[in-house]
Formats: sequence, structure tokens, C-alpha cells
Amino acid sequence: MSEKVVAVQDAWRQGAHVDDAKYQEMYRASVSDPDGFWGEHGRRIDWMTPFTKVKDTSFAPGNVSIKWFDDGKTNVAYNCIDRHLETRGDQTAIIWEGDDPNESRHITYRELHAQVCRMANVLRNRGVSKGDRVTIYLPMIPEAAYAMLACARLGAIHSIVFGGFSPDSLAARIQGCEAKVVITADEGLRGGRKVPLKANVDAAIGRLPKDAVDHVIVVRRTGGSVAMEPGRDVYYHEAAEQVTDACPAEAVEAEHPLFILYTSGSTGQPKGVVHTTGGYLVYAAMTHEYVFDYREGDVYWCTADVGWVTGHSYIVYGPLANGATTLMFEGIPTYPTNARFWEVIDKHKVNIFYTAPTAIRSLMGAGEGPVKTTSRASLRVLGSVGEPINPEAWDWYYRVVGDSRCPIVDTWWQTETGGILITPLPGATALKPGSATRPFFGVQPVMVDAEGKEIAGPCEGNLCIKDSWPGQMRTVYGDHERFEQTYFSTYPNLYFTGDGARRDADGFYWITGRVDDVINVSGHRMGTAEVESSLVAHAKVAEAAVVGFPHNVKGQGIYAYVTLNEGEEGDEALRKELVAWVRKDIGPIASPDLIQFAPGLPKTRSGKIMRRILRKIAEDDFSTLGDTSTLADPAVVDDLIENRQNRA
Ligand code: WT7
Repeated sequence: MSEKVVAVQDAWRQGAHVDDAKYQEMYRASVSDPDGFWGEHGRRIDWMTPFTKVKDTSFAPGNVSIKWFDDGKTNVAYNCIDRHLETRGDQTAIIWEGDDPNESRHITYRELHAQVCRMANVLRNRGVSKGDRVTIYLPMIPEAAYAMLACARLGAIHSIVFGGFSPDSLAARIQGCEAKVVITADEGLRGGRKVPLKANVDAAIGRLPKDAVDHVIVVRRTGGSVAMEPGRDVYYHEAAEQVTDACPAEAVEAEHPLFILYTSGSTGQPKGVVHTTGGYLVYAAMTHEYVFDYREGDVYWCTADVGWVTGHSYIVYGPLANGATTLMFEGIPTYPTNARFWEVIDKHKVNIFYTAPTAIRSLMGAGEGPVKTTSRASLRVLGSVGEPINPEAWDWYYRVVGDSRCPIVDTWWQTETGGILITPLPGATALKPGSATRPFFGVQPVMVDAEGKEIAGPCEGNLCIKDSWPGQMRTVYGDHERFEQTYFSTYPNLYFTGDGARRDADGFYWITGRVDDVINVSGHRMGTAEVESSLVAHAKVAEAAVVGFPHNVKGQGIYAYVTLNEGEEGDEALRKELVAWVRKDIGPIASPDLIQFAPGLPKTRSGKIMRRILRKIAEDDFSTLGDTSTLADPAVVDDLIENRQNRA
């Protein structure tokens, strides 16, 4: 592992929110007196009813309960828009950069206010009120932010489904939270290609019980013709003409749910992660300010999609709560050319740029040329998120993109954590390529061994968090039992992240990846069980086991071992058919990269598949398969090795 250290440059410290001494001091205060610390920082947002209580949390087995600022009332849309109007009504809130480089727009805070009120009124006219769930299935257009904030304004709970998910996945997510209203677009546009969003919604609703969905609101994006069901479907632009641009922001309890976001776990069914109002917003806003060293007037760009938590916390809620100018990009890094990111940075004079290692690696492949045609002089801070960044990609990002002038904040967090938990701070933390470095304020990482014993000092182990922070998820929608079971039962009294990590002699954390059956493909989280259940639903498949394998660009690829039914032939055509099957069933992000037809899978005598062996073979590293003597039929391993698909 790289032990290179990049010291904090003087320029990074100048005007920064914190230097190292200040970080240490604030960190100590945050963990020794959470009530005092968060009581103070909780006031960074405006409260309609100020809170008197701060932290009220328990990780105790059978009694997991997480409440922050419990008796306060506020509204997220009010904090992200209304409170800025007096001082920055004419400032750009959102820069929208279209898929087509000739298309961009600036939306001021005043315009944002009017648009969000209109969208809220359109929803209200369709019966949406506090606590109702609204599914959002939109491309990266400003209406996605309007829709989120409109829900927040009414106290309705949004559930965004990434536009890359299939009708089946969408249907399960609509049903999971019983959303009566869906907001979508005619079509999305990415890299010059159209995505049939409305048609997917129709197909999804077709799989649900009759009358499950009352209203579908369709934003016109491409103008492509789509089927409209009278009485159920309405074009947003037509509905918006019928309402005013004034709508009061409803004061809701701090613990009122703001959104549900489905994410993959180690079992087949995605979980509806619930985030609430007050603590979430305080944490998203505070991390956005400190981690990116955000300063008044900065142009900030996070390249994520709003379908993922990164888009929620760091395109919309954190930046807008801070009154920032946030850039929203509809397209992809490689369209029309590999220079797109860098050209957009120059076009809009971006100061802070936040992207994923998979994007960096794919652009690295094109060499330095496309980067060096641009200036990037506006850049001050670079960020990375989604998976461990390998030192080569880190170095290229630092040297080629940032011209060795900009710190890279490698931010570790999860859908469940609501905001960044482990990260460098630009003016404070020396950087080690590949390490997410140190905990943010209020975050207490602990390392535990396989027996659940806390380990001290430099070590390797499972990463847990000792106590609550305001951005933490509160429950699994409709299934608090599953929440406790998933996160708090492995190691009692600790939140278990599902990640393995190393802690070095400086107390820096190096995330090594998931230790459960979750894989990370291009920064997208996928449960191996989900892909398996899709594969076994195919008529020719008897059994399937899915693992991750190292992939140059994606970080991890999807490797599927498939046992066919008697008499079926495993050939190229069937491989293609199975890939297409999974794509259609779950979505393109779940497409297997490699499929190995296996007459048998390595099982223990009790029938449990030994994934450790399958992982090793998928890694093309079978020199140390470990103990295979407990296998019911050790001979299957020879066949698996013989026919492996990932030969180095
Ligand atoms: C998993 C969470 C956080 C928003 C995007 C992903 C991995 C995330 C890093 C990082 C190493 C990382 C972890 C984590 N991960 N960021 N900087 N270094 N690993 O959210 O889909 O909930 O996935 O992504 O394995 O558990 P998510």
C-alpha cells in the first residue's frame, strides 16, 4: 500500500475554515460534548420552532432509536430557498448544464422559489400532503431539484428512483412505499441517447395492482411522443399553468421523514433508507461547508445523479442550505468528447469539483491530452466518492486535473450515513493517496475483529461507528426490525458499516471494501443476491452465485456462476441472453460482466455456497483457496478453475 504523504500546502490553509489545530479542537469538543457541539451547529439552519433537546439516541439491542433536535420544527425547502431570498435572491442557485454542450441555464434563488412553489401546488392539487410518498423518476434536469424541494415544502416524502433502473425495479420501489404520485419525464437524454422514462413508468404501473398510482406528472424534456392516460397522466407544464407561484412551507417536526432512498443490501430486497428533516439537513450542510472548504461565491459541482444519495446531500440539500451555486449536469463524462468535464469546469468557472474514481479511471484511459486542452484554473478543491480510489487514479486526479495545486478530499460515507463520515479537510489534513484519512466532527469510528472485540491502534478489521451523528438514517421504511437486524445486531451497541478497513499509525483510515455480499460497480451499490435472484428467474437457470471481481474501470465487475437446468447448453448465445435478461429485470447497472457456466457450485455439506472460493476464482487467484475439505464435493472446484472466465 502507498505510504506517500502529501502535506497541506500553505495555499490550502489560507482562508480555510479549519487548520489542523482547529480540527483537533473541534473534533475533541464534538465527541466529548455532543449536546453542546451539535446544539451550537444545529442553529446553522433556521428553525420555525427552536429545539431545546439535541441528542436522544440509543444503539442498544432491541431498542435502537435515533432522534436529533426532537422538539424543533423546521422546513428543508424554507432553509434551502426562502431564507436566502433577502440576501441572495438574484444569485444563481443552480447552473444547469445540458447533455448538449450548447445548452445551459442559470436559475436564481428567486426563480427556484417560484418553480418549487409551482411544483408544490401542482402536487397539492393532486392530493399530496404531509407524510404522503411521491416517487421521482427523472433525468438530471432542474425539475428533479424542484420536485425534491416541492415535496419537502409540503412535508411529503420523496423517493427517487435512478433513471437507469428497469420498470420492474421501479415498480417494486413505488409499491414499497405506496406512492400514489409519480413524477417523471417523457424521455431522458444522456450522451445523445434517449431514455424512455415515461414508457418505463407505464410498464411499471402495469405490474402494480389496479389504481395503485393516482397521478403521473410528466415533465417535457425531449418532446418525444408518449402515451398519456387520461385522468391519470398530466404534462407538468400544463398543470403548472393552472397554479400560482406562492406556496407556504409547512413547518414539520425535526424527525419528520424527508426522503426514502432504496439501496442494496446483502439480501434480495432493497431497503428503503429513511432520512429525516433537521439532523439530516444540519449534517449535509455542515459537511458540505467544511469538507469542501466551501466559501461564499464558490461555484460547486458534484457530478453524481440525484438518484443516488450523493445527489441528494451534495447536489441539492447541502449546497442549497448553504446558499451555494450548485451545478447540475445532465450528461456523461465522455460526450461529446473525453474533455467534457474539464470544458464544463472552464465554462462555468467551477471552484469545487466532486466526482467518482470510476469516472477518473475511464478518463485516464484517454490520456492527458483532453485535460490539457483546458485551463481548470478556477479549481480549488477536488473530491472523490463512491469507492476506494486507487493510488494511480489519485495521482492522475491530483497531478493532471488539479495541476498539483488542489487537495483531494477522499470522502467515505454511505446512503445510510446521510453525509460524509471520514474525510480529509482541505486546510487541515495531510493527504495519503487511497486513504479517506480522519473522521468528521462527531464521528467515532471503531475497529472490531471477527469476534466483535474492539481493537486499538494500527490494525485491520471491520469498521463500526460508536455513537450517532445527526445525518444517520433513522429506520428502514416500514421495517424497523430489519434496521436493527442489519446494522446493530452484528456488533451490539455499534453501527456496523459493512466495510472493512485498515487504521494506520497516524490513526488514518483506509477503507478496503465491503465485507458483506454487497459489491460496488462503478460506485453503484449492488447486492449479489439481487443479481442471483434475477438469474434464477430465467427458465434455463437452475442455480446462480454472484461475486465481484477487480475491474480496471468499474472498480468491481459482476461475475456470475450459473448452473443450468438438465439438458440446457451453456453457449455464447445464452450468455448474451442472460446478460440482457438481468439488464431488463434490474437495469443496466446490474449487467453481469462475466458468466461462467458451472455444472456445480462449491457447497458445504449443509448446502451453503462457499463464496470465499468463488471470489478467489473470480479474482483469478486460486493459489490460496483455503480449506476446501468441508465441501460436499471438492471436485467441483477443479472444474471451476479449469473454466474460469477471468484469466490474467
Ligand atoms: C459504500 C456505500 C457515499 C455515497 C456513494 C456510495 C463505498 C463510498 C468510499 C470511499 C472507499 C467508499 C463503501 C461504502 N465507498 N465512498 N471514499 N472510499 N469506499 O453510497 O451506494 O451507499 O455505497 O461505498 O464500501 O460502504 P452507497
